[in-house]
Amino acid sequence: MYGVYVHVPWCRIRCPYCAFAVDTRRAPDDAAWLARTLEDWARERPFFEGRPETLSFGGGTPSRADPAALATVVQAVDPAGEVSLEANPEDVTPQRLEAWRTMGVNRLSLGVQTFQPALAPRYGRAHSARDATDALLAVSKAGFRSFSVDLIYGHPEQTVAMLVEDIDHAVATGVDHVSLYSLTIEPGTRFGDRGQTVADEDHWCALHEAAVQRLEASRLQRYEVSNFSRKGARSVHNEHYWRARHWAGLGPSAHGWRPDQARVANASDVSAWLAGAPPAVEGVTGRARLWELVWSTLRHVEGVDRARVRFLTGAEVVCPAAAIEAGLLVEDSASIRLTPDGFAVSDAVVEAVVQATVRAASWIVGSS
Ligand SMILES: C[S@@+](CC[C@H](N)C(=O)[O-])C[C@H]1O[C@@H](n2cnc3c(N)ncnc32)[C@H](O)[C@@H]1O
Ligand code: SF4
Repeated sequence: MYGVYVHVPWCRIRCPYCAFAVDTRRAPDDAAWLARTLEDWARERPFFEGRPETLSFGGGTPSRADPAALATVVQAVDPAGEVSLEANPEDVTPQRLEAWRTMGVNRLSLGVQTFQPALAPRYGRAHSARDATDALLAVSKAGFRSFSVDLIYGHPEQTVAMLVEDIDHAVATGVDHVSLYSLTIEPGTRFGDRGQTVADEDHWCALHEAAVQRLEASRLQRYEVSNFSRKGARSVHNEHYWRARHWAGLGPSAHGWRPDQARVANASDVSAWLAGAPPAVEGVTGRARLWELVWSTLRHVEGVDRARVRFLTGAEVVCPAAAIEAGLLVEDSASIRLTPDGFAVSDAVVEAVVQATVRAASWIVGSS
């Protein structure tokens, strides 16, 4: 069981918070992107067995690419199940919706960030709140098996009422999945350069608590730190990452995790990747493998599977007693999981479990 991630770098503008590998040239070079993506697939394909279960177009802005180029990738990769695509609201037209559905896309994820007219300009988005609503309503009528919205929270000017309204607005359009990302200030972005801050701790906690309550009251259950879904509507592709399964990464900056235990990292500079720069390939074994297994699975609601970690590395996962006493983790003989309070401080808790586990496994050879 494996997935394929395909990175499409084209964007109209670079949003002030975004550090992803993007390219804002006026006319995207879909032909060059397609040729290089197919080369990446030819390189990765022999390392995987059988058909992939999922194919995910992320970005950048896949909705900006020529649908014919995307369709060629779908045909080449030939996934057996979920085909997902990230779209920006301003690209959603009846023609594109039809083209995406015809090529086999069955899950659409719309990057809205906020519906608030007072907040949207802070995020420098090319769409208005009205465009975002219209796009979501068009998607809801277009007959995709599942559709999702991305929201960002944690801007100092965002009130709890604004965030709850954003969630209600998304829910009213019929989404069965919400990705709710905490705003991070990344170096090298416009937010980073101008010293933009995030909400202070009390404000952030109030936003986080209100959002989780509202989403869960709307029958969107948290199944990963930033992801909430109706029953049966989880992102099958992203579960490959969070359950530490294998996937191939195609396109600039894409990472992959091969069955031969190699981590593959494509060049993140778009021009270098287009010019044929080779990926960095690194074997991940020993303590580094243990580190990755715990780190990638603890953010998921099902937590770390103790038997799987034991089987794959020979090590035992260590659950720090302080985190249990503080009500941040629960454990039983099968797994270690974050509690609702633990999700609120997941970075620190995950780091504590990883550190304790790797320290106790000092007998395993390999860097960490
Ligand atoms: C890389 S974007 C690609 C999708 C699409 N181009 C868009 O803008 O919606 C995926 C999502 O990452 C999230 N994101 C990107 N940078 C972020 C940041 N600094 N803090 C929080 N969320 C961020 C946004 O919610 C965005 O929708
Ligand atoms: S958030 Fe999306 S549209 Fe904005 S720069 Fe990043 S990838 Fe492009």
